[in-house]
Amino acid sequence: MNNSLVVQNVSSAYTVRKGFGRKTVKPILNDVSLEIAPGEICGLVGESGSGKTTLGRCILGLVDYEGEITVDGMRQRSGGGTAHRREMARRVQAVFQDPAASLNPAKRVGWLLEEPLRIHGVSGAAERRRRAGEMLDLVGLDGAYRDRRVNELSLGQKQRVSIGCALMLNPGLIIADEPVSSLDVSIAAQILNLFRDLHERLGLALLFISHNLDLVYWFCSRIAVMEKGRIVEQGAAEDLYRSPQHPYTQKLLEAGR
Ligand SMILES: Nc1ncnc2c1ncn2[C@@H]1O[C@H](COP(=O)(O)OP(=O)(O)O)[C@@H](O)[C@H]1O
Ligand SMILES: [Mg+2]
Repeated sequence: MNNSLVVQNVSSAYTVRKGFGRKTVKPILNDVSLEIAPGEICGLVGESGSGKTTLGRCILGLVDYEGEITVDGMRQRSGGGTAHRREMARRVQAVFQDPAASLNPAKRVGWLLEEPLRIHGVSGAAERRRRAGEMLDLVGLDGAYRDRRVNELSLGQKQRVSIGCALMLNPGLIIADEPVSSLDVSIAAQILNLFRDLHERLGLALLFISHNLDLVYWFCSRIAVMEKGRIVEQGAAEDLYRSPQHPYTQKLLEAGR
């Protein structure tokens, strides 16, 4: 069986334009390797600016990289063309920190849930409607929400809709980039419970990105720690939390206490 995610020796840099046609190359990721088994929840933790989002964007095919990334056995790359993008979209999807930014506020929930199906040519309005209805139920929203507009929803409800949109094509892997960082504690707990429930019911693998090591420990079975674009330590959550080996991991733990 293919691993959900294999990241091998990945490096990535941004080209920063300095004006007057001058450019500099800003290295971000340095020789990153990481694997996620099918149905596994892996945490990626590190301070702001360490490169977590950039790694997520490489995995999603949004950023160029050197090295190799495969998702369920298929190689990811940016600029791969429509057919390749569609193939990858069935393997990996993302949920971001700010659901309001990723959902069109004027659209109705049902329309948004059906959109990935329309893009991917799932034919039949009745079939799309049925699958959107199932998804509402799966993410814990009453059927009446189908006809609500996004701007009428609470932040937690919006995050449920963006999770639903991410799941419409049945991907095996979700990149969840700080998915609860903009939510109040009680709403954050509900969304984390939803992720865990989906993980159990669908066998979904998750790369859970967060700056909060305590949260990652609580939620994930394995953890990778990123410092300045390198993974400095990774292992079973329990081991890493109880006896952190790298000084940076120890520092993150201290910071949380
Ligand atoms: N589009 C971009 N162009 C140039 N630099 C960027 C860009 N996006 C992020 N960076 C830089 O890359 C580094 C890592 O950012 P990011 O991956 O967002 O880290 P994290 O998610 O861990 O906070 C930061 O120094 C950030 O300023
Ligand atoms: Mg980030």
